[in-house]
Amino acid sequence: MSTDAKNAIAQMEKIVSLCKRRGFIFQSSEIYGGCGGVWDYGPLGAELKRNLRNVWWNTMTREREDVLGLDASILMNPAIWKASGHVDTFADLMRECSLTNKRVRADHVEQQEGVVMNYSGAQSPTGWKLSRPIAVLMKKGEHIESLRKRVRTLIASNAGEAAGKVEEIELLDEAKGDTLEKTIDFHPETGGALGEARPFNLMLKTYLGPTATEADVTYLRPETAQAIFAQFKNVYDSSRMKVPFGIGQIGKAFRNEVTPKNFTFRSREFEQMELEFFIKPDEAVEIISGEVMAWSEGADLSEPKPNWGWQMWHRYWVDQRTKFYEGIGLGDVLEYYWQTPEDLAHYARACVDILCEFPFGTEELEGIAARGDFDLAAHQSASTKSQEIFDEELKNAAAKLSDEQKEAFIQKRLAAEAAKTKGQPMPEAAVRAWFERLFKGNYVPHVIEPSAGLDRMALAVIAKAFSETEKVDDKGKKEIITVLRLHPRVAPIKVGVFPLLKNKPELVAKAREVYALLKKHMNCFYDETASIGRRYARQDEAGTPFGITIDFETCGEKGPELQDTVTLRHRDSNEQERVKISDLLGKLLPLVS
Ligand code: GAP
Repeated sequence: MSTDAKNAIAQMEKIVSLCKRRGFIFQSSEIYGGCGGVWDYGPLGAELKRNLRNVWWNTMTREREDVLGLDASILMNPAIWKASGHVDTFADLMRECSLTNKRVRADHVEQQEGVVMNYSGAQSPTGWKLSRPIAVLMKKGEHIESLRKRVRTLIASNAGEAAGKVEEIELLDEAKGDTLEKTIDFHPETGGALGEARPFNLMLKTYLGPTATEADVTYLRPETAQAIFAQFKNVYDSSRMKVPFGIGQIGKAFRNEVTPKNFTFRSREFEQMELEFFIKPDEAVEIISGEVMAWSEGADLSEPKPNWGWQMWHRYWVDQRTKFYEGIGLGDVLEYYWQTPEDLAHYARACVDILCEFPFGTEELEGIAARGDFDLAAHQSASTKSQEIFDEELKNAAAKLSDEQKEAFIQKRLAAEAAKTKGQPMPEAAVRAWFERLFKGNYVPHVIEPSAGLDRMALAVIAKAFSETEKVDDKGKKEIITVLRLHPRVAPIKVGVFPLLKNKPELVAKAREVYALLKKHMNCFYDETASIGRRYARQDEAGTPFGITIDFETCGEKGPELQDTVTLRHRDSNEQERVKISDLLGKLLPLVS
């Protein structure tokens, strides 16, 4: 293993350990040995997640005039998942270990080197027998005895009690096979030969209703987006919004990931924060505005314009989401991957993955896709309920077009359909029918979808904030101090409030007063135990950006000019300043919200 890989593992181990020690993230069902790919958030983690949720919700809905919120149910009519394509295509290619039946994602198997060891089967003195050939990779550097032990252990754990004692299992007809240099045909953990890649649907099935028959099957939602599409018409009709506008939702999603990994990064239960931003089709924009603004590097994305088509809106949301991440301290660890035409789904026009640097590599944090009208059109067709909206401005503008101009629009679209390299081109009759509706002001909106994962975001901010420094104490003893440099907007605790000494009632009373004053406005922590340095260190590890110490000056013992002032400590700079108690709120609130 390379030094970088070892360092990455060590760094993740420290982060996982800090998360447990300080109550950010715990393994689910830990007292029963855990539950694969599922995590619980402790007191600090719950606050961190809530802060991230609030920043997203406020930025994406409340502070905007063109986005509304939705809070839909996790369980829905399974017809939604059929129409969306999830029942048929939401699958990972998976391969199964022939030794243990353990599955692994086909694209997660890294190349290995070794010698193939073959056995015709296995048996034990209990009479138990395995009558099928076994092929296992003896990894480079592995001793044959250790391989045999490993194979016996794996066989025994699969066979259960019937196989008897592990050491008594006999491996039959051992034969050395090929030496392989870059094989991807053996399970990375067990070494057992892998079967053919087969699709494995990631949706978690459940039953709705008491009979639990196949007719009652539904799914825990694998994304929050489909509920937004399914409720599009209700939101549109009840809110009287006009396109372009968006619907945002935060909520749980579930995927039966074949290989959940990297702590919370790929979990089986997680939260998404998704926006579906509905826009006019480019043809409607062109009819109304006379043109569709083309994207060019450096184009002004600050304020949406009426002549924006999908490309400008897509760029706009990439820009908005980048600013969002800058606002929570992740600006300098982002990268972008623009999917190539080969990567894109047939209906997608563009998709950019916002990637973030994690200790285990640079990985996806959010995807921003331009999905055309694929989703709403699919639900319109499957439900037979119209998902069209009526646009008066479009109807009026189209009424001014000559027949030749209308035909020119149709011809341009037919040429684009003919040039498609993916998916089926729309037949001419369907194109003409679509334009007929469009010229009357009717269309199914297109969509831009910024889709973020809350748990990944929480992990990203923790990983980015994690830092260690060496400190020498009064006795010259070196100590490694962990400081979690969380951005004040997302930090679980904003301020620690500390009386200098706990046995001075006047200091304690004043500290309690300051704590009560701030607590109504932000999450604070009151601590009077241990030395002040120890208390600062505890809060540094919890990611608390500010500390307030109430000392004798506060109580006026060093002169009236310092009375009712406190020491405000800034975690990241270690600077301390004297601040009047009456100025504290005004100073802190803008920094933490
Ligand atoms: N509606 C589009 C959609 O769901 P996605 O790329 O599959 O797109 C969006 O998911 C985001 O959800 C990802 O960028 C990631 O942040 C998060 N996410 C997806 N699967 C996840 C998992 N198994 N564990 C944690 N987060 C996940």
